[in-house]
Amino acid sequence: MAVDYEWFKGEVYKLTKIDLNAYKEKQMKRRIDTLISKTECKGYDQYMDLIKKDQTARETFITYLTINVSEFYRNIDQWNLMDKQMVPELINKFGKNLKIWSAACSTGDEPYTIVMLLSNHIPINQINIMAWDIDTVALAKARAGVYDDKEVKAVPAEMKKKYLSQEPGGKWRVSDEVKKRVNFKQADLLREPYPKDYHLIVCRNVLIYFTEEAKDEIFRKYYDALAPGGVLFIGSTEQIINYKEIGFIRKSSFYYEKPM
Ligand SMILES: C[S@@+](CC[C@H](N)C(=O)[O-])C[C@H]1O[C@@H](n2cnc3c(N)ncnc32)[C@H](O)[C@@H]1O
Repeated sequence: MAVDYEWFKGEVYKLTKIDLNAYKEKQMKRRIDTLISKTECKGYDQYMDLIKKDQTARETFITYLTINVSEFYRNIDQWNLMDKQMVPELINKFGKNLKIWSAACSTGDEPYTIVMLLSNHIPINQINIMAWDIDTVALAKARAGVYDDKEVKAVPAEMKKKYLSQEPGGKWRVSDEVKKRVNFKQADLLREPYPKDYHLIVCRNVLIYFTEEAKDEIFRKYYDALAPGGVLFIGSTEQIINYKEIGFIRKSSFYYEKPM
């Protein structure tokens, strides 16, 4: 059967409900072609047969295409601004029962970072983070909460002492006290209905893989999901070009507020 990438995208959607049309095509196709070239499969049809039959191959495919690299305190300057400015302002406006959403949380490094950082401002048992990701393999690691040295290297020493413990093999385990504050959920940002009245939405290093149309739709949905005065926090290399048109106030290149 002569099949092409268009056909493959359709089959992927039927199988996984992941809509590859929403991701930047050149980059995504290149990744998928590289992955297929590392298998015995001769083309999209053979590879599709494989991921239909073999659950491990299917999970490998989803994990590979969703690119779930993450780190605790990734881009430290952003977290410093969150600590010094964003969080005090949010507490001023809304009090300490903040509704917080880590929208593409990957292996958990980001929502656990938020808990640690907020624990400087709010009693830890009052913190609640909703954390979504499309990738079940990344979420399994997030729930386990065990990390390599490299992933936790930027955690400030006092936080490391308080909330991480080193296991005999050298890995780092996040304390139950921190884990309990995060509610992980498998969800696709393109399909799942968004919640309402959130005070802080953190969405970093995922929309860079999306087409301009998909990105625009998601930014508008975040705007609707925020309470007036709420904040959207995006990645250090990202920006919302049409923020004014959506209705946001730009506080910095990565920090946008919905007017009160
Ligand atoms: C590079 S990681 C970013 C993790 C974290 N936000 C950070 O900045 O360190 C991108 C994550 O987005 C997730 N993702 C990709 N497409 C998604 C979608 N449609 N819905 C939800 N999550 C998605 C991937 O599974 C991956 O875990």
